[in-house]
Amino acid sequence: MILSIESSCDDSAIAITDLETKKLLFHKKISQEIEHSIYGGVVPELAARLHAEALPKILAQVSEYFPKLRAVAVTASPGLAVTLIEGVTMAKAIAVSLNIPLIAVNHLVGHIYSLFIEKETSFPMSVLLVSGGHTQLMEVKSLESIQTVAKSMDDSFGESFDKVAKMMGLGYPGGPLIENLAYDGDRLAYNFTVPLHQSPLIAFSYSGLKNAVRLAVEEAGSDTEKYKDIAASFEHIATKHLTMKLKKYFKTNRPKNFAIVGGASANLYLRKEIEKLLEPHGAKLHLSELKYCADNAAMIGRVAVEMYEKQMFTPIDALEIAPKSAI
Ligand code: KG4
Ligand code: ZN
Repeated sequence: MILSIESSCDDSAIAITDLETKKLLFHKKISQEIEHSIYGGVVPELAARLHAEALPKILAQVSEYFPKLRAVAVTASPGLAVTLIEGVTMAKAIAVSLNIPLIAVNHLVGHIYSLFIEKETSFPMSVLLVSGGHTQLMEVKSLESIQTVAKSMDDSFGESFDKVAKMMGLGYPGGPLIENLAYDGDRLAYNFTVPLHQSPLIAFSYSGLKNAVRLAVEEAGSDTEKYKDIAASFEHIATKHLTMKLKKYFKTNRPKNFAIVGGASANLYLRKEIEKLLEPHGAKLHLSELKYCADNAAMIGRVAVEMYEKQMFTPIDALEIAPKSAI
């Protein structure tokens, strides 16, 4: 079995995965959303302190598996430096005390493998990752062949939801809050410009849209009824930006198997719009279960099973966090 740890941002999670059957035997996550909510975003030092409390609590629940562990896996990149270090330090301690190898996992690869928890992989696949830290389109052939074909030039999709929620004083994380508010709003009430709509580039950008929304929120003032329409119009344009760029990309790269992963892939409007886009191509849409869209240790364990088979271990002294490392 493999024990995996995830602490790249504001979720403390540990999983146990069976190496032979790839079955998830245990998964527990303690989220810090309530603690960060009053600040309208993640406060790194607070997050680190909360990981230091939560991770040992979860670890105590898996001690029965210790004799059966063959490796310990941990998210080493990308993420917040002060929170990554919490998981990595714990993983190193476990590796030393049980004398088992360490597996350093890139958590973006983890998001891709969230599609295959308790399942075999089904590559090749085009994958759109939408999270708080990343918005990128990848062509994935295997664990070792992941090619990024487009990414955000500034803010990410999920981050823009977080910032809009903060402007409206709604709390954190903004994704589900804005999605809920948008249900009762008019998507066409505000005519925000679709980012990069005139650019031939296959790339993403959210900072301009964020600023347009800021002006609308300021103009609405205390008329919070207007927030529903702003939320709906923002979600519509943020999604349209993705579908317009994908449509362009599909002209030269016909999709067969397409997946959306990452925390923001839980957004139902985004799922529906991408489904519509894929329909004429007869392409299949792959999605993670809702509980595995956001950061979790089950996906880290699933990647680690593949890395264990290929003996992709990292010596304890060589394992360092890489907060900015991408794919
Ligand atoms: O993957 P994740 O847990 O962490 C990162 O790797 O960043 O993604 C978290 C992000 C946050 O920005 C959150 O607001 C966003 O995913 N998110 C959503 C939704 N649920 C979570 N964004 C839009 N709609 C949602 N329903
Ligand atoms: Zn993530």
